[in-house]
Amino acid sequence: MEQRGSRDRTQRYPHPFVHELKLTTAQKIRGAVLGTVLFPLRVFFAALFFLIMWPIASLRLAGLSEAERAEPIQGWRRWLLHTPVQLLSRAVFFSLGFLWIRVKGRQAGPKEAPLLAVAPHSSFLDILVLVPAGLPTVVSRSENCSLPVIGALLEFNQALLVSRKDPESRKQCVMQLRERLTSNGRWPQILMYPEGTTTNGTALIKFKPGAFMAGVPVQPVLLRYPNKLDTVRWTWKGTSWVQALWYTTSQLYTNLTVEYLPVYTPSKEEKENPALYAENVQKLMADALGIPATDYVMESRMPVSKLGCLTLPLEPPARDALTLLQQAGVSDMKAVLKLMIDSCHSGQEERVSAEQLASLLGLTDRQTATKICSLYSKGEQVDLRQLAVSVAAISGLWTEDSLIHTAFTLYDGGCKGSLSAAELQLFLAALVGYPQPHTAELYKEMASRGQPTRENLQALLTEHPTYQRLFTEYLQPEEAPAPPSANGGPGSHGTPMQNGTANSRKKAD
Ligand SMILES: *[C@@H]1O[C@H](CO)[C@@H](O)[C@H](O)[C@H]1NC(C)=O
Ligand SMILES: *[C@@H]1O[C@H](CO)[C@@H](O)[C@H](O)[C@H]1NC(C)=O
Ligand SMILES: *[C@@H]1O[C@H](CO)[C@@H](O)[C@H](O)[C@H]1NC(C)=O
Ligand SMILES: *[C@@H]1O[C@H](CO)[C@@H](O)[C@H](O)[C@H]1NC(C)=O
Repeated sequence: MEQRGSRDRTQRYPHPFVHELKLTTAQKIRGAVLGTVLFPLRVFFAALFFLIMWPIASLRLAGLSEAERAEPIQGWRRWLLHTPVQLLSRAVFFSLGFLWIRVKGRQAGPKEAPLLAVAPHSSFLDILVLVPAGLPTVVSRSENCSLPVIGALLEFNQALLVSRKDPESRKQCVMQLRERLTSNGRWPQILMYPEGTTTNGTALIKFKPGAFMAGVPVQPVLLRYPNKLDTVRWTWKGTSWVQALWYTTSQLYTNLTVEYLPVYTPSKEEKENPALYAENVQKLMADALGIPATDYVMESRMPVSKLGCLTLPLEPPARDALTLLQQAGVSDMKAVLKLMIDSCHSGQEERVSAEQLASLLGLTDRQTATKICSLYSKGEQVDLRQLAVSVAAISGLWTEDSLIHTAFTLYDGGCKGSLSAAELQLFLAALVGYPQPHTAELYKEMASRGQPTRENLQALLTEHPTYQRLFTEYLQPEEAPAPPSANGGPGSHGTPMQNGTANSRKKAD
């Protein structure tokens, strides 16, 4: 069998969901000394100002009926209470070390741009942007309303609330959002972070279309923290929020720049297609920041990218499994993979425990087997088919043809010569090494043009303009490790595919 892997690899961009703050010894000492003094003082004053806001914020809606609360607040409740809350909010952040905020550009009014789209989203501290923006309305989880002070501030803000668990509340929130955005200035501006999660700021991730659904003009707002030390960020991996708060408060001060870009008015096409509208605003903001626009998203707390209906984890479990096997001293990877596949063919149970996996592969260290299981599922079990196929797919040791053939026979229950919808889902999950919840549509599409037979699947994965990229881009073996400085080794991150068009702007360095 010939090996894959000699193909040219398209340009890829590592994902931005990791932020590791690297400090020199001098910076650590300085941070420890300043932090010991500043952290308690700053947190004390921030908490104090925060608490003073509580009664003032509560006054805003005090004594109003449900119906009155559902309307924009006017009169003394607006003009008398707005400024104190804005000043106190500023004082909270002043206490935390944001002594100055630089503002560039001009903020549009609510009639001109009902929506402010803020990016990149770096941390919970981004909420500070509300102060220079004049406390626009935010969208928050309804669960937060029961928190002390925050609950009162959300009421004060007349925030749009959405519950994670309740799909009905989602619908209602979308409706309210549309109503407010199209109110022609009757409601205050709404501020959103269209990325929906934080990153380390080296790339913009895909914008969620929610904010763009109403098709109203949007003002893009760039947030930058131009500091020698990037202490503010808090994302999926790396620095924790406590560390971010500690490091930030232990600086003498922290710079923030808020830049208002010109209002973006959607074209007719963009109004009809919120995804396109979102994508174009994302590109525009990425251009202004000089960073790439990627199609990465956070789904079920995992950074992934999308390829048609496929969900591709940016840190593929199979890559880590392969590394673990190599570290455990497996020298003939092909033989080990074949062993697993043969075991599945011989009618054994496909789900195996770490114990069974260790004995099947002859691993002396059970730890390795446990780690491999945990890469694929929460329990101490793994589907041997998924493990074998996904590692084989990413190892480059199989040709596409033989890999598809092997996977197909593993999932074609009863040797019918074609896959059912559920089998197709498992087949694709095995190749990717990750659950594929959205393949129903692909099945329908395939079924309408003949059954998902091996030949048809092969054609899909080698010739389809989108899906062929699974092999040509995503499932490429790791490059041969470069000399010393390469940060490969354990836990090294996969090299995710990137959207050729959206990402053609490579970060200049
Ligand atoms: C931010 O993400 C990029 C892309 O993965 C990575 O190269 C960089 O090291 C990350 N920055 C920090 C400070 O961790
Ligand atoms: C609401 O609570 C969630 C955690 O449950 C938190 O991540 C989020 O930042 C909170 N939002 C606000 C506006 O406080
Ligand atoms: C804040 O920005 C100024 C330039 O605008 C820079 O000179 C200064 O070093 C920055 N402060 C920190 C803490 O990085
Ligand atoms: C990549 O970007 C192009 C154009 O911006 C878009 O049409 C295409 O759907 C994107 N591809 C993916 C996989 O998101």
